[in-house]
Amino acid sequence: MSLPTHMRALHLPSLSSPPQITLRTLPLPPVVPGSVLIRVLATQITQKSHDIYSGKVGFTLPSDIILGGGYTIGRVAQPGPDTTSLPVGKLVMVQSFLRARDNPDEIQAVWGAFDGGVPTSREWIEKNWKNGSFAEYVLAPLENVEPLDEERLCGPKEEGGLGYSVEDLLQLPVQLVALGGWKGIGLQAGERVIVAPATGQYSGAAVEVAVAMGAGQVIAMGRNVEVLKRIQGLYPKGRIQIVPMTGDEEGDAQKLMSWGPVDAYIDVSPAAATGSTHVSSCFKALRNYGRASLMGTIAEGLAATYAMIVWKSLTIKGQYMYDRADARHIVRMAESGVLRLGPESGVEVVGKFKLDEIDKGWETAAKNTEFGKTIALAP
Ligand SMILES: NC(=O)c1ccc[n+]([C@@H]2O[C@H](COP(=O)([O-])OP(=O)(O)OC[C@H]3O[C@@H](n4cnc5c(N)ncnc54)[C@H](OP(=O)(O)O)[C@@H]3O)[C@@H](O)[C@H]2O)c1
Repeated sequence: MSLPTHMRALHLPSLSSPPQITLRTLPLPPVVPGSVLIRVLATQITQKSHDIYSGKVGFTLPSDIILGGGYTIGRVAQPGPDTTSLPVGKLVMVQSFLRARDNPDEIQAVWGAFDGGVPTSREWIEKNWKNGSFAEYVLAPLENVEPLDEERLCGPKEEGGLGYSVEDLLQLPVQLVALGGWKGIGLQAGERVIVAPATGQYSGAAVEVAVAMGAGQVIAMGRNVEVLKRIQGLYPKGRIQIVPMTGDEEGDAQKLMSWGPVDAYIDVSPAAATGSTHVSSCFKALRNYGRASLMGTIAEGLAATYAMIVWKSLTIKGQYMYDRADARHIVRMAESGVLRLGPESGVEVVGKFKLDEIDKGWETAAKNTEFGKTIALAP
């Protein structure tokens, strides 16, 4: 593959509302040890990322950046000199959890979304990974690139493939976040679990991942009963139960327990859900020795009381993203067919835009914020 000297990319001078994005022609980044140059085929656009670039979310990022980060499917354009398993042309998933190689537990960032907020991680991002994937090419850290079995994932069904489009594969990095949550609390096959809320981008994905991991029953809780019913309809009868969030803490807890003991609960609430009674209801519904994974951004103290945690011997685990090995795991789950992507999993591609159509992409993202809507930027 002969490479051009320059590429087109979407540039942001600094966070501002509205973000002042321009399409620029920039030199291709030089490939250095520990990195891989990826030709971007598709990368996700979400309302949330627009809010981040507008400065509304409060996440910090360096100035003078190429937008985007992980959540990208592409092909290896040029592997770094220390690359051993990513030949030119290989289809790959690029995931967005960045960790410093010499200090992975302390220096962490979400590529293109949050530089970690502390001086050490901010400086590390500024010097190394401030440019993302809203471009024809992206230079990715080697460890953030996962090879994909293209024949299996994208091949025709009649030839043993799964028939996914490249854009369908954009769900993989989302499901990866949910996998991190479930693995963090050791989800076991056959268990009954709660996902609350279950109608968001990540929380909706947590339902499919739980089923793929063998959960016996998933109780999907949320305010939007229409979306809950749509999710329920994707699975065999009885596998998914739905519980509307009514604001009645005790009543909702009783409903959550109505199918039997609940082993585990995953919470992916946004800050907007601060004050919602669903968190208390879910803790109440957990059985003795139950486990909870907290992954959201609720801005208040824990809904479980000290006494409840002690007397029920609860395990409560905070979960920021996932472990590196989980990226390989989610890909293997998809390649095996136990984890579904695309329309069968309730996820459809509602728009696909070129770099110079980014404004249309943001507009589409703003109208499609509920679970199951993928908007792709395809440079
Ligand atoms: N820990 C991590 O590693 C990690 C990774 C990714 C994201 N996150 C965080 O996870 C959170 C959710 O992300 P997401 O992308 O799934 O969000 P999202 O797509 O915007 O979905 C938000 C969900 O929260 C529900 N919700 C909104 N306001 C609510 C309220 N007042 N009471 C109850 N439910 C409410 C929504 O339900 P309706 O359908 O009823 O509106 C929807 O189900 C975000 O804060 C994000 O930063 C954490």
